Amino acid sequence: MAEQHDHEHEHDVEGAAPEAPVKVVGAEPDLTKGTARPITVFGNPVLHREVKDVTSFDGELSALIDDMFQSMYAAEGVGLAANQIGVDLKVFVYDCPDDEGVRHIGHVVNPVLEEFPKDRRRVLDDGNEGCLSVPTAYAELPRPDYAAVTGQDKDGNPVRVEGTGFFARCLQHETDHLFGFLYIDKLSKRDRKDALKQMAEGTPRYATVPNE
Ligand code: NI
Repeated sequence: MAEQHDHEHEHDVEGAAPEAPVKVVGAEPDLTKGTARPITVFGNPVLHREVKDVTSFDGELSALIDDMFQSMYAAEGVGLAANQIGVDLKVFVYDCPDDEGVRHIGHVVNPVLEEFPKDRRRVLDDGNEGCLSVPTAYAELPRPDYAAVTGQDKDGNPVRVEGTGFFARCLQHETDHLFGFLYIDKLSKRDRKDALKQMAEGTPRYATVPNE
C-alpha cells in the first residue's frame, strides 16, 4: 500500500514538525539483507488471481521477506504483497503507522482476514488509499477502521495481527492482494476508471515491471 495521501498529510510538509511515532510494534528488518525488486503493476496477471499458500518455511522464504522489505522501502510504501514483486506466494510485509502514531512493522504468511467482530461497533473510515501497483493514483475508499489477520510467521508459528485506522486499512489491502484483488476493484466504476486514468498519466518514482 502507498503512503497516506491527503490534505492533512500535505500540511505536515510545510507546517510544524510531523508527530514522531510514540511506539513501535514489531522489529525493524535487517536492511543489510535482501535486494529491492521492481513492482508489478495493474494488468500483470499475478496481481489478478489468488496466489499460492506457503508450505515451505525455509531460507528461501526468509530471503523473499528480506527482498520484500527492501522493495517496499525503495518504493516508499507502507505495505507490500509478494505478488507485487511477481512472486506467487501468500506473504505480505508492512511498516505502517496507525492513527495513534504507533508504527507497526512485520510480515504475515498465509494471512486470512478475520470476520469483523460482532461485539464491535462497525465504524467506516473513509480515508484515501493508494497502491504501489497502481502508481500515482489515489482514491477515497471506505473501510472498517478495525481489522485482524491470522496466519503464520516465517518459521511457521501461528500469528495474529490486529490494527485500527490506517493500519487496519493496510491489513485489509495487503490480504486482498494475495486473493487477487486491488483496492480499485472495490471502487465504483467511475472512481476505478479515474484511478486508472491517474495511473496512465503519472510516472512512478520507483522501478516497475513492464506489462506484456
Ligand atoms: Ni497495494
